[in-house]
Amino acid sequence: MIRFDNRVAIVTGAGGGLGRRYALDLAARGARVVVNDLGGSRDGSGASSAMAEAVAEEIRALGGEAIAHGTSVTDEAGVADMVGEALGRWGQVDILINNAGILRDRTFAKMTIEDFRAVVDVHLMGSVICTKAVWERMREQAYGRILMTTSSTGLYGNFGQANYGAAKLALVGLMKTLALEGQKYGVKVNTIAPLAATRMTEDLLPPALLEKMGPETVSPAALYLVSEGAPTGMVLNAGGGGFEASYVTLTRGIHVAADAMTPETVAARIDEICSRDGEMVPETGAAQAQAALAGRG
Ligand code: NAI
Repeated sequence: MIRFDNRVAIVTGAGGGLGRRYALDLAARGARVVVNDLGGSRDGSGASSAMAEAVAEEIRALGGEAIAHGTSVTDEAGVADMVGEALGRWGQVDILINNAGILRDRTFAKMTIEDFRAVVDVHLMGSVICTKAVWERMREQAYGRILMTTSSTGLYGNFGQANYGAAKLALVGLMKTLALEGQKYGVKVNTIAPLAATRMTEDLLPPALLEKMGPETVSPAALYLVSEGAPTGMVLNAGGGGFEASYVTLTRGIHVAADAMTPETVAARIDEICSRDGEMVPETGAAQAQAALAGRG
């Protein structure tokens, strides 16, 4: 049985959708939860602490412990205040789920730089700011579980979501390095790629699919990834009963002598370069470079 007794968790964007479900499920398994939400609309406009308050109240009504905080994840001072409140009340922060997000979908041709920046700011910089605010504390206490939220758009691309895809894959890069830097301090960092019926997807997915894809179908993977026995550096996809892992793989490729290092060689042998026979997942970027230099045969 996975439990979170005596653990303190911050869940960003937990006023609705997936974050609300994570907060409720963590609390039901014993965690004390900071429910964060800016309470704006799907494109990030507006703000109200009512959404976060309502979920914190829901948790308390079920016998759990929760407080609400309405800061934007992009506001360094607000995030510092939120972490300070959690520490002041409960003395520790063990879990951070970076879940807050907005959408400003348009084709790249029609997308303004402002729409691009706003999406990168909330997803990427919001996750960086919240993670930075708990990182030192987690290292000191030699325990931490941090979850990033990516998307199939970041991993594989989706039409009309260039800003969102860029921000979402950036989180995987952030996670990969933090997983390495956190390892010796007991800080584990993972990423979830959800697929669920929320206000973010209500007009993107067909109704028949939405019915089977409530946030409760994603939450089990999220809770596993912030549990005591969590792995580190993993990307898990979850939704509608499906659980998969996503990897950035490296093919065996070819290794040629200096005189063959020409664009024509690449063109002539592109099928061999791209062949997925014997592909691998390097544990670090350095390991990938080493493998390339060794002419991995
Ligand atoms: P949602 O719109 O219900 O939840 C996002 C929450 O973040 C909202 O409650 C919103 O008020 C809050 N938020 C937005 N900007 C904020 C800010 N600056 N500071 C604090 N809170 C802020 O949507 P959903 O689907 O629950 O999304 C949760 C996460 O999952 C997002 O990161 C989203 O990109 C990601 N995701 C969701 C998928 C899905 O199928 N629903 C698919 C892939 C990723």
